[in-house]
Amino acid sequence: MNTVKTVPELRAAVARARSEGKRIGFVPTMGNLHSGHAALVVKAAQCADFVVASIFVNPLQFGANEDLDKYPRTLAADQQLLVESGCNLLFAPAVDEMYPDGMSVQTRVSVPNLSEGLCGASRPGHFEGVATVVSKLFNMVQPDLAVFGEKDYQQLAVIRAMVRDLNMPIQVMGLPTVRAADGLALSSRNGYLTAEQRATAPVLYRVLQTMAAAIARGQKDFAALVADGQAQLSAAGLRPDYLEVRHALTLRPAMVDDRDLVVIAAAYLGNTRLIDNLYVQVQDKTA
Ligand code: PAF
Repeated sequence: MNTVKTVPELRAAVARARSEGKRIGFVPTMGNLHSGHAALVVKAAQCADFVVASIFVNPLQFGANEDLDKYPRTLAADQQLLVESGCNLLFAPAVDEMYPDGMSVQTRVSVPNLSEGLCGASRPGHFEGVATVVSKLFNMVQPDLAVFGEKDYQQLAVIRAMVRDLNMPIQVMGLPTVRAADGLALSSRNGYLTAEQRATAPVLYRVLQTMAAAIARGQKDFAALVADGQAQLSAAGLRPDYLEVRHALTLRPAMVDDRDLVVIAAAYLGNTRLIDNLYVQVQDKTA
């Protein structure tokens, strides 16, 4: 696997692969890779002939008081994991390579509606930062397909909408969240947790499971379920940011006749913000 740091080097390497008739798969990341990322690369390698990954901690998607500076940078270990997962080329640009004229004058991509609410409400500008960097990366790599994790459920919805609305000729694939044995969704931010917090963290997934099971059985009082779930999170020492039941595709608030729903949450453990979600299909009573 080659690592390149500039756009011309990236374009040259991708052009070589394409001239050999290869289908290009792409996995954008912010590094500090774990088995969840490995699964994305393995999937890309199954669906494409040449896999490009990027590692770029994108300042444009971090709020002023967020963890941009302390976000873990672990390039050597990441390169190892990428090689083992079947990646062919790593693009690891510096901030100046991505934003040569500075971020304040950078053209932005904003996806209305889907970017609002949930994480968009607590992280203003976050999804504009994500959509902007992902569209830049898409234009740099020009992949045939790109693979993202479903853990960042709203992000995936925003990227799908961007690709559709801007007619980008890219197949976007979402992969199920990879979890630790106790259910905690793998995340680079789990590394911030103390041992005690790490032991508490799986409560988030357990609450989602309890809510999803009730919804699948036909519970329609979403407000009561949410209140109950929030109480369970608080009792365990998590501070819920949001806990909601939404339509799985449009992300609008759930309605009683909806069949495809997602229970979606963000909660703080100390200063660490965890997110998770669980898709649920309402069972057909006549089945
Ligand atoms: O999910 C992430 O790691 C990031 O938001 C992404 C998609 C790489 C954009 O910076």
